[in-house]
Amino acid sequence: MTEILVTGGAGYLGSVATTLLLDAGHRVRVLDDLSTGHLDAVDERAQFVEGSLEDPTALDEAVSGVQSVIHFAGKSLVAESVAQPELYHRVNVGGTTQLLEAMARHGVTRCVFSSSAATYGEPVELPLRETSPTQPTSPYGESKLRVDALLSDAATRGLAAVSLRYFNVAGALETARGWLGERHHPETHLVPNVLEASENHPLTLFGTDWNTPDGTCVRDYVHVVDLIDAHVRALDVLENGRHHIVNLGSGRGYSNREVIATSESVLGRPVPVVESPRRPGDPAVLVASIERAEHLLGWRPERDLRRMIDDAYAARLAR
Ligand code: UFG
Repeated sequence: MTEILVTGGAGYLGSVATTLLLDAGHRVRVLDDLSTGHLDAVDERAQFVEGSLEDPTALDEAVSGVQSVIHFAGKSLVAESVAQPELYHRVNVGGTTQLLEAMARHGVTRCVFSSSAATYGEPVELPLRETSPTQPTSPYGESKLRVDALLSDAATRGLAAVSLRYFNVAGALETARGWLGERHHPETHLVPNVLEASENHPLTLFGTDWNTPDGTCVRDYVHVVDLIDAHVRALDVLENGRHHIVNLGSGRGYSNREVIATSESVLGRPVPVVESPRRPGDPAVLVASIERAEHLLGWRPERDLRRMIDDAYAARLAR
């Protein structure tokens, strides 16, 4: 049985990963500083180490004896990164540097990393391929790209690494202990905000004048359970001295209005919407090519947008 360190295991993606890895028979250790995560989201079968990526003592405790690391921990809000670029550099780039140093101290050579479609910036081709130009438009995207470069560099010294570039993640996982879903404060993502919208607090729909079929932005959604399944598969393709970069999406886009319409069908009522100007930094369309994920990981997402919204809604109702 292998032991895997999940950094950021109290967050949305990390908590789902922890539970699914445990269910698959792995031992799991979680490192999280609980700055944005929730302790009650951490599966009680996991060993929990409270601490940050910037705390060498916590890192040593977390890394010692594990075979692989799945690295989710980090800051992940585009707008916050524009306001506080140094924070994103320090936590995402500096923190990952410290994690890699701790892994080297303990002879751990296998790492799967949460990268992002934000590394590409405004697309110059669609669908986006892993070979597409990377010109991030936010310090968040820049920090993820810097970490991808750190991993490529470390691979020249023997690290086995996979960077998974997520597009838009949604959905939730039902567990024996209840639902694991998105609980961000503040919440900035479309699906949870649509489900939360009410007459008193309507959804702010950013931009209806984009050059897209219905004037709203188009995004590529992937269910959190499919996303984590790709991480489990990535563990199997880790190879010393190689760094693979792999997009994770569905390969098709949905407009913001399509997301709202699907949510209305799940909710059985209209979603109150206030049309607003464009949100700064939003590209019009982000859609992934997932050919590499299919070939390298043998992965295809199984759950569609309706299922993502069904599950996100069930998780919200259960709160
Ligand atoms: N949107 C609204 N109203 C909201 C929230 C979002 O209209 O209340 C719109 C946005 O303007 C955008 C779309 O819904 O057009 C999707 O926005 P999200 O914030 O849900 O997701 P993003 O595409 O901005 O961001 C996601 C990840 C980022 C990642 C980025 C690029 O959350 O971490 O994709 O891949 F950087």
